[in-house]
Amino acid sequence: MKVITAIKDMRTEILKQKGLGKTIGFVPTMGFLHEGHLSLISQARQENDIVVLSIFVNPLQFGPNEDFSTYPRDFNRDRSLAEAEKVDYIFYPSVEEMYPYVPSVKVVVQERTDVLCGKSRPGHFDGVATVLTKLFTIIMPTRAYFGKKDAQQVAVVDGLISDFNFPIELIAVDIIREADGLAKSSRNVNLIPEERQQATVLYRSLQSAKNTIDHGEQNPANLICMISEMINRESNGQIDYVEIFSYPQLKPLENLNGTIIIAIAVKFSKVRLIDNLIIQID
Ligand code: PAF
Repeated sequence: MKVITAIKDMRTEILKQKGLGKTIGFVPTMGFLHEGHLSLISQARQENDIVVLSIFVNPLQFGPNEDFSTYPRDFNRDRSLAEAEKVDYIFYPSVEEMYPYVPSVKVVVQERTDVLCGKSRPGHFDGVATVLTKLFTIIMPTRAYFGKKDAQQVAVVDGLISDFNFPIELIAVDIIREADGLAKSSRNVNLIPEERQQATVLYRSLQSAKNTIDHGEQNPANLICMISEMINRESNGQIDYVEIFSYPQLKPLENLNGTIIIAIAVKFSKVRLIDNLIIQID
């Protein structure tokens, strides 16, 4: 496995591999790898000749009051995990390498961002789309792997790939959970022990909503109310949103039908957690 920090060196390697006719699976991350990332890498490993993992905490996608400086980082640990997963290249650029000057062009995402995380994180998806545009151009992957945990990101990346005609196949991989249901996230380490226990209510409330739908509930507002009450009752977390939309269009629904997403974001003392369930309703 090679660790590459310079864009021009990464390009040279990619062009060499492409010249040999190799397919390239790309897993973009901000590091502090957990099992969710490892499942993306493992799928990329199975489906491609070469696997490139990027580790870059992208300042453009953090708001002024967000956790850019405290976002967990541990490169040595990430390197060992990547090596064990048989990654071929880690692309690990510095902020100065990726943004040597204030960018003269940024990507602006115009659809599917005024809801869910996009609503409370203005500019977040512009930052994600801008860095991915750079990374896609540098890595030129055959396939790019993203977790369904951030379902809105998957929808936005789908738009980015098709709008900009990137010849890349988007692969969305299922959410990986702890034994108690909490969705794996690099940010979970910032939960204090009491909150870690309470955080299981996110997934339990989603399951409970699914159960209620299975028993005939059709009204999104009733479900949102039920989920919110459960989260407020069983945790000290502050609800950022509980929303139900069509998926992947992310449009409001009067009645439940087709493919829907139930999505939640809850703020704990030092961390904000997200989770979702995508359900097909016949
Ligand atoms: O999901 C993430 O970790 C980031 O948003 C990504 C896709 C690596 C872009 O910085």
